[in-house]
Amino acid sequence: MAYTPPELDWERLVLIAGGHTAFQLLWAGVELGLYDTLSARPGQTLDELAQALGLARQPARILLVGLTALGVVKLENGRYRNADVTEARMVGSKPGCVAPILGWQAHIVYPGMMDFVASLKANRNVGLARFEGTEPTLYERLTHDKTLEKIFQDSMSGLSRQANQFLPKAMDFSGYHHVVDAGGGDGTNAMAIARAYPGLKATVFDSPSVCAHARQNIAAAGMADRVDTWEGNFFDTPFPPDTDCVVYCHILTIWSMEKNRALLKRTFDALPTGGAVVIFNMMADDDDRGPLSTALGSPYFLAIATGEGMLHPWKDYEAALRDAGFRQTVRLDQGLPLDHGILVGIK
Ligand SMILES: C[S@@+](CC[C@H](N)C(=O)[O-])C[C@H]1O[C@@H](n2cnc3c(N)ncnc32)[C@H](O)[C@@H]1O
Repeated sequence: MAYTPPELDWERLVLIAGGHTAFQLLWAGVELGLYDTLSARPGQTLDELAQALGLARQPARILLVGLTALGVVKLENGRYRNADVTEARMVGSKPGCVAPILGWQAHIVYPGMMDFVASLKANRNVGLARFEGTEPTLYERLTHDKTLEKIFQDSMSGLSRQANQFLPKAMDFSGYHHVVDAGGGDGTNAMAIARAYPGLKATVFDSPSVCAHARQNIAAAGMADRVDTWEGNFFDTPFPPDTDCVVYCHILTIWSMEKNRALLKRTFDALPTGGAVVIFNMMADDDDRGPLSTALGSPYFLAIATGEGMLHPWKDYEAALRDAGFRQTVRLDQGLPLDHGILVGIK
């Protein structure tokens, strides 16, 4: 069901106008361990929480007033507890915890978005100048700052782990023999597909350094007989021989649709008749109204990451697949988390 944007009332306008402060309040709760503390011992008073968090009473009060007004924590009879969603999504020990993803928001998106207006006017990622280096994309520049690189990787793998585990369940790979996970990173995804479908072979297609890392993980999991790596740049390195299914997980949001189209055409040419390409990432609605997660995610690609990507809508990928020559496209959008979707193109 397509997202319906809410009517703008005064309270919502106040929330948007103070969005930067609302985010910092939420993030402070992560940094200071507030949500974990309240999960372990609900019902603490302001003084108890101030002591547990190592804060003076006045700053603790300001933090807790803010989080209470936002609904992130609940205050009843002078005692605080996590709201239900906070308990499920912001507590480190819970499987659905999204708190690590906020590290990327705090250290990368937050500063880079200071240059959003300039990026809109220049139609490029002006916010990238806040990150060390001269390379044209964030991914390359992060290699200069190991702390930031780790924050980024932890956030992205947290996001991917939550979403990627659904791919082998939602997509039926049983008709394919050789699945290539293009931009497959550390191999987690390729191994999960191979585990779920014992009849197929899986390959991680990524840069040489990333493939080396994937090989270590594959060997450690004892899966080297069915999962291997293929080093190169998928914009110009040939695909492995006998590939009949190519998966792009969290890849086709990075670039413009023009570049995606070129990549999908190469992929089409590499596949046999009946072969498939699988696009898996957050999908925007076709009516350009949302959902909120993709609408708030796309500015990052313009202002910081690449200056050209976005969280594209389904229909743009479908048009690109059709124009590349794929005879059929199938949308899979049931039971996937975080506004993800799977789009399959069949040759
Ligand atoms: C955002 S990560 C996605 C990782 C993984 N697919 C997932 O869903 O968690 C992007 C990956 O694509 C790889 N990559 C980017 N451009 C590439 C290219 N031109 N050729 C091969 N790999 C590329 C990167 O090295 C990185 O591992």
